[in-house]
Amino acid sequence: MDKNDTSLSIKQALKLASSMLLKVTQYPKKEALILLSYFLCKDEVWLFLHEDSKIKNSDGYFNLIKRRANEEPIEYITKKVSFYSEEFFIDYGALIPRPETELLVDEVIKLAKNFKKEINISEIGIGSGIISIMLAKNIKNSKITATDTSIKAIEIAKKNIEKFSFLDKIKVFNSSYLDCVEEKIDIIVSNPPYVANDYEVEKPLHYEPKEAIFAGEEGDEILKNIIHVAKKKKVKYLACEIGYNQKDSIVELLDKLSFGEYYFYKDLSGFDRGFVVST
Ligand SMILES: C[S@@+](CC[C@H](N)C(=O)[O-])C[C@H]1O[C@@H](n2cnc3c(N)ncnc32)[C@H](O)[C@@H]1O
Repeated sequence: MDKNDTSLSIKQALKLASSMLLKVTQYPKKEALILLSYFLCKDEVWLFLHEDSKIKNSDGYFNLIKRRANEEPIEYITKKVSFYSEEFFIDYGALIPRPETELLVDEVIKLAKNFKKEINISEIGIGSGIISIMLAKNIKNSKITATDTSIKAIEIAKKNIEKFSFLDKIKVFNSSYLDCVEEKIDIIVSNPPYVANDYEVEKPLHYEPKEAIFAGEEGDEILKNIIHVAKKKKVKYLACEIGYNQKDSIVELLDKLSFGEYYFYKDLSGFDRGFVVST
């Protein structure tokens, strides 16, 4: 080993990087490792087996660590996100999928069991594509139409749809609500923006698209519009994710419209997280 070589070994770089991430994550060692694995294009086992090897251009690695230390979500740095045990592409312009949205997918998979023939499902606000793709994967007799008002989100969704080979099963349109969908719809599903415009979100959310998070003065405006769209389209089922404190205003509208029977489901922390209406 060259005594004048001041570059860091993998072990030294990981130690320093972990210390730089202490304030932003509960898992500094793990995230330092994920980012080094991403930077060097080597898996974690390789890194452990070569922990005394020197890193060329460690500045590049520490630039990633500085971005993370500045609270940029790790998913936007590595361009990867896990949802429903699958790995998806993610980038700025689409919301980073949240684990609780898996519950919404579960609800729609349950509803699909009530259909014997082909099911037409429409998703409002496809984002990165995670919901439509997991439904296409788990509901063999499904045909899916999805919309989003964001062109960037649609580009990201299309990459994922192609990755999972569902180009023939999921059609995506740059449209608001279901404005461009003419055909009969059996199930509408949506995880829409549901945060009030003046709500002060934490710094990591500043990296995510505003149009995926904020929905108006109250926060439930888009959810309510979706309920009206579903009623007008005479769908059999509507399934939506909601904010933890929005149950009452949704119940009020569903009752006012006499839309059908409904129930709310909770997330793993016990908060109301979504509802399903059957007509
Ligand atoms: C909370 S994100 C959900 C993304 C993805 N479905 C998920 O669960 O991770 C909401 C998405 O709805 C889109 N959106 C907002 N208003 C919309 C509208 N009126 N019609 C269609 N999509 C809309 C946003 O661009 C964003 O991609």
